[in-house]
Amino acid sequence: MSNDRVLRVGLLGAGNVGAEVARLMVANQQDLAARSGVGLVITKIAVRDLNVPRPGIDSSLLTNDADSVVSDPSIDLIIEVIGGVEPARTLILKAMSNGKAVVTANKALLAKHGAELFHASDLADVDFYYEAAVAGAIPILRPLAESLVGDRVQRVMGIINGTTNYILTKMHETGASFDGALAEAQSLGYAESDPTADVDGFDAAAKAAILAGLAFHTQVTDADVYREGIRGITADDVSVAKAMGFVIKLLAIAEANELHGSKEETISVRVHPTMIPLTHPLASVRESFNAVFVKCESAGDLMFYGRGAGGTPTASAILGDLVAVARNRNEGSLGPTETDYADLDIAPIGVSRTRYLIRMDVADVPGVLASVASTVAKNNVSILTVRQEGRGADAELVVLTHVATESALANTLKDLQQLDVVKQVVSMIRVEGLMS
Ligand code: NDP
Ligand code: HSE
Repeated sequence: MSNDRVLRVGLLGAGNVGAEVARLMVANQQDLAARSGVGLVITKIAVRDLNVPRPGIDSSLLTNDADSVVSDPSIDLIIEVIGGVEPARTLILKAMSNGKAVVTANKALLAKHGAELFHASDLADVDFYYEAAVAGAIPILRPLAESLVGDRVQRVMGIINGTTNYILTKMHETGASFDGALAEAQSLGYAESDPTADVDGFDAAAKAAILAGLAFHTQVTDADVYREGIRGITADDVSVAKAMGFVIKLLAIAEANELHGSKEETISVRVHPTMIPLTHPLASVRESFNAVFVKCESAGDLMFYGRGAGGTPTASAILGDLVAVARNRNEGSLGPTETDYADLDIAPIGVSRTRYLIRMDVADVPGVLASVASTVAKNNVSILTVRQEGRGADAELVVLTHVATESALANTLKDLQQLDVVKQVVSMIRVEGLMS
C-alpha cells in the first residue's frame, strides 16, 4: 500500500474502549480498508501507565506522552478514548490545530465544551465525529444530525445510562433494594466503585445535552439539564409502581415546550426517575440496554435500541466514525458540521409539564381525601386517580395527577406538607407514556 493510501491513527487511551478499538482495527483490517478505500493503521497509542499488561496490543506503539501523539506530523487522525475533561480537551484542540481529524467517545467533555470543539474543528477544517458518546453502539447522533435534519424533532426521550437501567431492572424484577442492586451492578463491572456519575444522573445529563443540541439545533451544556438521579428510589416506590402497572426508569427527555401566547419557542432538557406503563416500549428495555425514542413532526415516532456501553459495542461506533472520516478524506470533503442556528432558550424546570405520582402517609380520618383533593385543585393540578390503603390509624394515599407544570406541582407538594392530616409526603415520581 502506498503512503497516501494509508490513514495513520493515533489512539489516546487503551482502556475498556481503546483496547477494543485497537483489537478490532487489527482483526478487521482488510474489511475496514476495503470499506474506507484506505488502510487504517494505528501508529501510536498513548496510555497513562506503561507497566499495565495489554494483551493483543503491540507494545512498541505505546507511549505515556499523549502530547507527542497529537503533535506527530505523520498522524492523520486521533481517536480520543481517555475520557474526562482534561487532558482530553487540550489534546483534542491541539490535534485539530495540527490538522488532524478527531473521533471521540467523550460525552463528559462534549457536554461541557462542545461549542469550543465544534468551532475548533471548523477553524481547522477537520472532521470531528462522536457517535459513541451517546448510547454506545446505538446509531443515534448521525440519524439526528443527518437522516432527520430535514424534519422537525419535537421530543427525544430515552434510557441512556446502562448502569442505572441495570439497577432499576433488578429492583423491579427481584424486589432488591437500591443498595443491593447497586452492589450487584458493581460486582458485575457495570457500575464503578464511585457510582456517582451514573446513579446521580450526571452521565445521562451529559448525553441528554448532546442529544438536545443536535435535535434542536441549539447549544446545550450539561449545566442546562435538570437532573435527578436514582439514589432516592426505594423498593417501596418500585413495588407501588409495579402494583399500578408501571416500571421506574431513569429517563432523559429533551422536548420543545408548547407555545403560550406570544412567547418564544423554548426547549426543556431533564433527567429523572420516571414511571412508564409496563406496556410502553421503553418498559421492555432491560438490564444495561439503552433505547431512545425520537418524535418528529413528519417522521412520527422512531425508536433506537441496543447496547449503550461496553468496550466492544462502543468500539463499533468509533470504527464507524473512523471509516466515515476516511471516506470523507478520500473525497476531499468533510462531514456535516454542527448547526446551532435555532439558538432556543432552555426553559427552567418549572415550565416542564408531565404527570406525577405522589405518595403520602396520612391520618386515616374522615375528610382526608377532601382536604388533599382541594389542596391539589387549589394549585391547578387535576387528579387522575387516588388509591388509599389503610395501615391502622394511618393510611397510604397514592395520587396520580393529570399533566401539570413542575411549578404547580412544587407548590402542591409544599401545601400538602402543611396539612395536619398529611404526616409525610413519602415520594413524588414523574409519570410519562400515558395516553389520556
Ligand atoms: P478507561 O478508564 O477504561 O480507559 C481510559 C484510558 O485512558 C486508559 O488506557 C488510561 O491509561 C488512558 N489515560 C488516562 N489518562 C491518560 C493520560 N493523561 N494520557 C494518556 N492516556 C491516559 O475508560 P473507558 O475506555 O471506559 O472510556 C473511555 C471513553 O469512552 C470515556 O470518554 C467514556 O465516557 C467513553 N465511553 C465509555 C463507554 C464504556 O462502556 N466504557 C461507553 C461509551 C463511551 P491506563 O490504561 O494506563 O490507565
Ligand atoms: N457508565 C455508562 C453507562 C457507560 O452505564 O451507561 C456508557 O456511557
